[in-house]
Amino acid sequence: MEQRRSFIKELLQSKEVDRDVNAKGWVRTKRGNKQVAFVALNDGSTIHNIQVVIDVAKFDENLIKNITTGASLNVHGTLVRSLAQGQSVEIQANKIEIYGVADPEKYPLQKKRHSLEYLREIAHLRFRTNTFGAVFRIRHAMAFAIHKYFNDKKFYYLHTPIVTGSDAEGAGEMFKVSTLDLENIPKTEKGEINYTEDFFGKETNLTVSGQLEAELGATALSNVYTFGPTFRAENSNTPRHLAEFWMIEPEMAFYDIHDNMDLAEDMLKYLIQYALDNCMDDLKFLENRLIEEEKNKPQNEKSDMTLLEKLEFILKDDFVRLTYTEAIDVLKNSKPAKKGKFQFPVEWGIDLQSEHERYLVEKHFKKPVILVDYPKDIKAFYMKQNDDGKTVRAMDILFPGIGEIIGGSQREEVYEKLAARISEMGIPERDMWWYLETRMYGTVPHSGFGLGFERLILFVTGMSNIRDVIPFPRTPKNAEF
Ligand code: 4AD
Ligand code: MG
Repeated sequence: MEQRRSFIKELLQSKEVDRDVNAKGWVRTKRGNKQVAFVALNDGSTIHNIQVVIDVAKFDENLIKNITTGASLNVHGTLVRSLAQGQSVEIQANKIEIYGVADPEKYPLQKKRHSLEYLREIAHLRFRTNTFGAVFRIRHAMAFAIHKYFNDKKFYYLHTPIVTGSDAEGAGEMFKVSTLDLENIPKTEKGEINYTEDFFGKETNLTVSGQLEAELGATALSNVYTFGPTFRAENSNTPRHLAEFWMIEPEMAFYDIHDNMDLAEDMLKYLIQYALDNCMDDLKFLENRLIEEEKNKPQNEKSDMTLLEKLEFILKDDFVRLTYTEAIDVLKNSKPAKKGKFQFPVEWGIDLQSEHERYLVEKHFKKPVILVDYPKDIKAFYMKQNDDGKTVRAMDILFPGIGEIIGGSQREEVYEKLAARISEMGIPERDMWWYLETRMYGTVPHSGFGLGFERLILFVTGMSNIRDVIPFPRTPKNAEF
């Protein structure tokens, strides 16, 4: 009987040697001489390759020739202890089948190190590099850990719609969803687009957030969370923005803003601990990659912590919590403000720019920071209004190297206040009646937040561009693959 296929990760950890095994995977490298060939085989189960030792005389010459970087193999052989350094076992090949060759003249991944920019252009193959293998294994582990975290805490995973008729953030940066003929758009008598003829009979778009629907769930199920794709048509070409990104949005009945902050901090620490406990091989690889990269950087841009130190560092202390107003004071009294070094001047009421957020986190407090009580004019309509009439119970969590990783708030649960805010901001009530009704029938104090999944992965992997932590990035003028 043919041997069952084993993952390379399993084989490398195996203490049981001198037995028949079967491995399948892609060739990373081949070296050797006329007598013996050494093939490094990888199947994605681990960052490490298994060495396949081939006694050349035993195999067809053509077969050996076709074993080149990128080719896919089915290897039957004996698992033996390895004498080579850095590996405990290897496979002595008995039978090799090539599933698919990879023409070495054309295969886009050469042995040399490729730039991340180049690899983005071949996103269909970049999974085969060590870096992207590590990133996407960690991405998986983090997604799993998120579900585990909330399940253990008795939260329900709620699937909120991707096509919606509402604009949760009120930012007006939405992708339209329509089956109307763009060449021949039906118009009303007034000359406006006649959406009643559209697929859903109304104007619809891709969701920017599952929050509003999650709130409906929380006002009956108590604790829920969403974890799905969200879309923003903002034209931001930055290393921190995607047009399609994944967001985790817990929503909790009977939570005030302090409970909300406690949960967010606990969740972030749990996720980072999970990565340290479960992804060490990949993290170590990424850490070394960064150390190599740093060598080429000027002294003043070198980081004073390695990746693992940065992750450990988050776990060590409580996050700093302060109000927006206090943060403005810190910024106003800062060296860069006094020397006019900030590109955007600091004034109470401004939306903090990334330079301000990073100053607070990286220079001043040297810790993650939670800012609360933002001016109401720069935040969404649903946030609970403070008694001062100027601020709302918003919270943003700022992380070193990332800036905002979480945005959330306590929600306005008082019908009259919420309705007033909705009309003040010119949001049509016909789109919001269902949201408002939760405040009419058994309203409760409640809170929630949104964690940008890719920003979390940026932090955990130490990658610097958000396009490199999502398999197929969607950004302005880019929807290849
Ligand atoms: O601060 P945001 O816009 O908050 C919301 O959408 C709320 N409805 C969340 C809630 O209270 N349930 O977005 C939340 C997080 C940000 O902190 C950031 O991490 C991420 O989502 N994010 C983006 N990530 C990648 N690309 C973008 N264009 C992003 N916009 C926001
Ligand atoms: Mg935000």
